[in-house]
Amino acid sequence: QDPRIRRIASSIRVVPDFPKKGIMFQDITTLLLDPKAFKDTADLFVERYTGKGISVVAGVEARGFIFGPPIALAIGAKFIPLRKPRKLPGEVISENYVLEYGTDCLQMHVGAVQPGESALVVDDLIATGGTLCAAISLLERAGAEVVECACVIELPELKGREKLNGKPLYILMESH
Ligand code: PRP
Ligand code: MG
Repeated sequence: QDPRIRRIASSIRVVPDFPKKGIMFQDITTLLLDPKAFKDTADLFVERYTGKGISVVAGVEARGFIFGPPIALAIGAKFIPLRKPRKLPGEVISENYVLEYGTDCLQMHVGAVQPGESALVVDDLIATGGTLCAAISLLERAGAEVVECACVIELPELKGREKLNGKPLYILMESH
């Protein structure tokens, strides 16, 4: 394993019982306070995706907006924000997804991606996989090919990976 990953892992604060009892919240804001850990995180993704023909990096609001743009800039791709409802001013397509309680929705601007483009979807964490699944659907409905999803953290017990219908998922670490 890359030695940088241990430092990144130790920079992430785990907050028990947030936002509610029984949840071990993975707080990446402490990773952002460690410039070396933040740089190493971006570098690990950039090393993986440089020269792979990816023209689109799509980041999921809100924490995918932190990790996606440094990758997009470094590999020379455009960045597309996938936003929560009623935030984007232009024409949008929407994808609903299921949360533990209730549902949520992601939206993408029509015309942000051209049919046939190769896309990478970025978020901080995969739990149940519902969020990434919605992100993949938005891009594919617009005609893009999602080559991979990239997250800093996977919570493997929740089996979110299985919801991605075989779409490759790259993670830096598992959290239990
Ligand atoms: C968290 C996390 C992922 C998502 C993962 O975001 O940042 O986006 O949950 O969960 P899932 O795999 O079960 O769908 P959240 O919706 O809490 O919002 P935020 O990023 O705006 O804080
Ligand atoms: Mg999120």
